[in-house]
Amino acid sequence: MKHRIVLIVALFFFCTVLGQLSYSIPEEMAPGSIVGNVAQDLGLDIKRLESGKARVFTGAGTACIELNREKGVLLIKDRIDRELLCRQVMPCALHFQILLENPMEFYRATVEIVDVNDNPPVFINNDVQFNISESALVGTSFTLDTATDLDVGVNSLKSYFIKPSDTFSLKMNGDEDNRNVEMVLNAPLDREKTDHLSLVLTAVDGGVPQMSGTMQIRVTVLDFNDNEPVFLQPVYKASIKENAPLGTLVVKVTATDADHGSNGQIMYSITNVANEIRDLFLINRGSGEVTLNGKIDYEVSKQYQINIRASDHGGLTGSCKLIVDVLDLNDNRPNIYIMTKSNVISEDAKPNTAVSMIKVEDVDSAENGRVHCFSENDDRFILRSNTANFYTLETDNELDRELASEYNITVTCSDEGVPSLSSSVTLTLHISDVNDNAPVFDRSSYEAYIVENNSPGLSIFTVKATDADWNQNARVSYILEDSSVNGVPVSSYVSVSADSGVIHAVRSFDYEQIKDFRFCVKAQDGGSPPLSSNVTVKILVQDQNDNAPQVLYPVQTGGSLVAEMVPRSADVGYLVTKVVAVDVDSGQNAWLSYKLQKAADRALFEVGLQNGEIRTIRQVTDKDAVKQRLTVIVEDNGQPSRSATVIVNVAVADSFPEVLSEFTDFTHDKEYNDNLTFYLVLALAVVSFLFITCVVVIISVKIYRWRQSRILYHSNLPVIPYYPPRYSDTLGTATLPHVYNYDTCRTTDSRKSDCKFGRAGSQNVLIMDPSSTGTMQRIQSEKSILDEPDSPLEVRISRYYYHCSAEFDCFGLSMVRFQYLG
Ligand SMILES: *[C@@H]1O[C@H](CO)[C@@H](O)[C@H](O)[C@H]1NC(C)=O
Ligand SMILES: *[C@@H]1O[C@H](CO)[C@@H](O)[C@H](O)[C@H]1NC(C)=O
Repeated sequence: MKHRIVLIVALFFFCTVLGQLSYSIPEEMAPGSIVGNVAQDLGLDIKRLESGKARVFTGAGTACIELNREKGVLLIKDRIDRELLCRQVMPCALHFQILLENPMEFYRATVEIVDVNDNPPVFINNDVQFNISESALVGTSFTLDTATDLDVGVNSLKSYFIKPSDTFSLKMNGDEDNRNVEMVLNAPLDREKTDHLSLVLTAVDGGVPQMSGTMQIRVTVLDFNDNEPVFLQPVYKASIKENAPLGTLVVKVTATDADHGSNGQIMYSITNVANEIRDLFLINRGSGEVTLNGKIDYEVSKQYQINIRASDHGGLTGSCKLIVDVLDLNDNRPNIYIMTKSNVISEDAKPNTAVSMIKVEDVDSAENGRVHCFSENDDRFILRSNTANFYTLETDNELDRELASEYNITVTCSDEGVPSLSSSVTLTLHISDVNDNAPVFDRSSYEAYIVENNSPGLSIFTVKATDADWNQNARVSYILEDSSVNGVPVSSYVSVSADSGVIHAVRSFDYEQIKDFRFCVKAQDGGSPPLSSNVTVKILVQDQNDNAPQVLYPVQTGGSLVAEMVPRSADVGYLVTKVVAVDVDSGQNAWLSYKLQKAADRALFEVGLQNGEIRTIRQVTDKDAVKQRLTVIVEDNGQPSRSATVIVNVAVADSFPEVLSEFTDFTHDKEYNDNLTFYLVLALAVVSFLFITCVVVIISVKIYRWRQSRILYHSNLPVIPYYPPRYSDTLGTATLPHVYNYDTCRTTDSRKSDCKFGRAGSQNVLIMDPSSTGTMQRIQSEKSILDEPDSPLEVRISRYYYHCSAEFDCFGLSMVRFQYLG
């Protein structure tokens, strides 16, 4: 620049010489700035300039410069823009004339406008966009727009540079005026790393100070399918419960593809060859969710391996493996298999006899498949296990067919799963019989009655025994055990029907001969060996009124003359005699009553209905015959009743001769009567002796016991009433002492008489057999020790019979029996 100014000054001097002005000024000077001193340079006086009205003439052009006449200098009138004035033309000068008048003259003047660097390089587009594939090769060049700089010369555009320059560099071709700028790729692009580049191209000029212009270059890196899909995990693991419903999400696999767009769009698929897996599992092509598409069963497969492929649209693929573990659910019941079993077992089987063998299986695993079995019966059976899943059902106790002949044994097996599943099986076991029960009679002993005079073969009654065993072991037969009754085999009395137990009478029984008898019946079953049991049967023969009363006194001797003497002075109620009769029947059948038959008009006598005493009922008068003949009918109380008749001769006289005259046939029978009397007296003496002996013994025993009981029982406590309370005899007999009761019982002929009892409330008549004829007085006198001299041998006892019976038992008099009449 210094140089240039010097050059301009030199030129100015040259021009001055030629009469021509030449200046050089930079553009953009401020208005009023001095361009040059014209007066001095032209050698003109200021006055000349004023007088010549010196002025600048520019012709058509605009006058940017004016002349100040007073100072003789040229001044900048308007701002001068070289670029406007000259564009790119160099050099740029203003040509004008300075005109003077008086005289008219002119001078040429040239003002050169020197460029100032006042314009920066400018790009037309300050923002450009490139789309470059990431696959572009290194060295590929891209043409860029150039910039323009209005300035010229050194101030014009000088160079370009680009930033950052690691990916692209600049390459410039051509000369300065027609420059071609290219951007060259000098490193490979990777969209996956950088998909956008931002570059700045800067153009600088050569001015001082330097000015620059920039252009933004945006490079979009276009994708190229250079990446395959990659799964997040090479191996996925999942588990799923068996029996999970369709559509259950197993797992979601995810693959990524670094590529963009369709190159990065992934499709999932299952690539297993096996159809099974492709049927069971389904993968969502887009999302990678693997879902269940079939029924999954742990017992079929415990694990599945699924190969999954991910592919992008560019055809690149990646793969992973999915391992699905199936979780066991307790979905299988235990299966019970009966390996062997017996249907029947004997009731005498020992404990621990095996009945059945059982195997159990559960296809589930772990605790779902661990099975325990137990039997639901009582303590009679037990399930034992020696080996896992094998069980033996054994008896654990004694069996008894009679208690239970059949068992339904339920074996239940359950696994340990939660909830537990179980199954059960029922075994029916029959218990076979063993002959272990003897027949049992339905009563411990039997008593049966049969009325005497039965027809032989009559069935008396039936014994019955039952046997708890079964079938043949329970078939009972009845056998009559051998024994004898009164020295006769019992089989001649009764027979027992083996099948039915019916007891038949073999003969006709006579109560007067046998009142009861016992025998044994055996019941035996059909087992082997047979079992049996006994029962005692007592047959009681019942009385029938089959015997008429027998008159013992007075004795009826055919044609004999026995008479009772009645003194004529006898009082009313004088006891003439007593008719004594017995009836070998018992009970009512032996209950006798006495009546007079054919009583005379003015009867002198009457007979006691019950005691047979013949007494006078009025005073004897002279009209009464000496010889009286009374017919007494003795009747028993049976149905129908039987009777006997006795004729009693009575002599009504004061002296024996009187009688004799009446009973003339009395004497020649005297020898016979003496003999008879002797025997009767003898018999009466023996009986009386026995009677008195017994009475003494009984009294001693009684007194002894009475004392004992007084000691045992406290003073006033009432003794159990052995005997009826004292009572009055309706017939005027005195009250009977207790002892007498016994005596009468004892005195009774054990073969022919009984203690007899009437209905409740009534009294029973006990008749004693005096077995004598004319010695009544003596009996009575002997009986006087019993404080009852006048008492006839007739006793009433009450219905308190039981003790009487016991007393007799003490004496072993088993045949004495009491019986209710009625
Ligand atoms: C055993 O089961 C059978 C058949 O169900 C039945 O008839 C029988 O009565 C049962 N026995 C017992 C003792 O429960
Ligand atoms: C049955 O009675 C007989 C004799 O009478 C006896 O030997 C036998 O032991 C008795 N049997 C039973 C089971 O009582």
